[in-house]
Amino acid sequence: MILILGGGDTHIDPMTAGGPSAAYANRVSLDGKIGAPPPRWHTPRSAYIHVPFCRTMCAYCDFATFAGVEQHIPAYVTALANEIRIGSPGANPDVPLETMYLGGGTPSLLEPAQLETIITAIATRFGARLNLAEVTLEANPGFNPAVIGSWVNLGVNRVSLGVQSLDDPTLKRLGRTHDAETAIRAVLALKACGSISVNLDLIYGLPWQTLEMWQEHLKRALETEPDHISLYALAIEAGTPLARQVSSGQWSVPDDDLVADMYEVALPELTQAGFRHYEVSNWAKPGHESRHNLAYWRNEAYHGFGVGAHRYIDGRRSWNVRSLDHYLAAMQSGRPVEEGSETLAPDAAPGETAMLALRMRDEGIDFARFMERFGIDPRERWRTIFEEVAPHGFLRVDDSRACLTDRGLLASNDIASRFL
Ligand SMILES: C[S@@+](CC[C@H](N)C(=O)[O-])C[C@H]1O[C@@H](n2cnc3c(N)ncnc32)[C@H](O)[C@@H]1O
Ligand code: SF4
Repeated sequence: MILILGGGDTHIDPMTAGGPSAAYANRVSLDGKIGAPPPRWHTPRSAYIHVPFCRTMCAYCDFATFAGVEQHIPAYVTALANEIRIGSPGANPDVPLETMYLGGGTPSLLEPAQLETIITAIATRFGARLNLAEVTLEANPGFNPAVIGSWVNLGVNRVSLGVQSLDDPTLKRLGRTHDAETAIRAVLALKACGSISVNLDLIYGLPWQTLEMWQEHLKRALETEPDHISLYALAIEAGTPLARQVSSGQWSVPDDDLVADMYEVALPELTQAGFRHYEVSNWAKPGHESRHNLAYWRNEAYHGFGVGAHRYIDGRRSWNVRSLDHYLAAMQSGRPVEEGSETLAPDAAPGETAMLALRMRDEGIDFARFMERFGIDPRERWRTIFEEVAPHGFLRVDDSRACLTDRGLLASNDIASRFL
């Protein structure tokens, strides 16, 4: 790991990060045996950091984010750095951190110096235990390309761009502040820097979108040659401007069959463009899978910092206050920012893990990993479900794993919920 603090940018080089950490050196006993690291489902290797600021609110979005309050960004960055320094409740600090995800909101709104404050807090907190392989920054395509060099210097090696569509009328209706040309320029600038893996988020199933329009939008997105693509079916969230437009009759909710057709037509296009479909909504070129998100789908532990952030540590899920004012006030007066928590009943954890595992198209429910983690054989535990679902062509079961087929992925919510 190269970590240079002071005298300029904090530089964390994730590509050269690695090697046994000081914490592991301490695990070597006198007979030379190295103690096993705590399991990934107990102790986080990943940290999510929430940046709840956007220039304007998009018509469909109900994330924990706020527009028009950018004057609070400096105080928020200070509070976030403090929360990171204090550390996650219950987390064992002796384990290397491998992935970091700055999500939002719009983290690309932060100045490089503000990002540096956050990343330095992580570097200070984890010290020699920093072993970052992936640092993701969510960005709005309207960012200034001149900052890319600073992002790289800070160790960012993956950028997730909220492109949503490459059709200008669609972007306008969604309330986005960028146009298609800006998005294309952003992808090209990121790719040109040579060390950033680029993801595009696209939304389909829009009320005004025909199947042909969607195919055209996807084709344009593929022409920019991203490394990773996330396709999200529009969810009409209560209380958003889009939900109001639907209830006033301006738009009608798209037909489920049409939305399923949009998903289905995307599958061969993406395969042909060299992407591997590795999760229900995610496709990657080889080696560009999101390691951070894989930890969620494997139901592994993770830290969460910031407004509304969730964490999962040692079987306990907890979440922070969702109000920016409450978060800032609590951090300023030294009160906890955690608002609630739950510990899953031991017999519920395998079902939840199976449900998430089925989202991963080729990995699916890994029998050996299940045995190691829960001491149960999924083939015994869910024999009836396997026997009912597999003959209909929804599930592939072999000696090592059970995975959804492409047909099964279309019914993934229904099938996965049976495991709960
Ligand atoms: C956490 S958001 C942040 C991304 C970034 N702020 C942006 O939009 O430019 C991640 C992605 O979730 C998706 N998303 C947000 N709200 C959605 C909704 N109501 N339905 C479907 N997808 C949604 C969008 O594709 C978005 O890019
Ligand atoms: S920019 Fe992203 S987080 Fe912000 S309102 Fe739009 S979709 Fe939501």
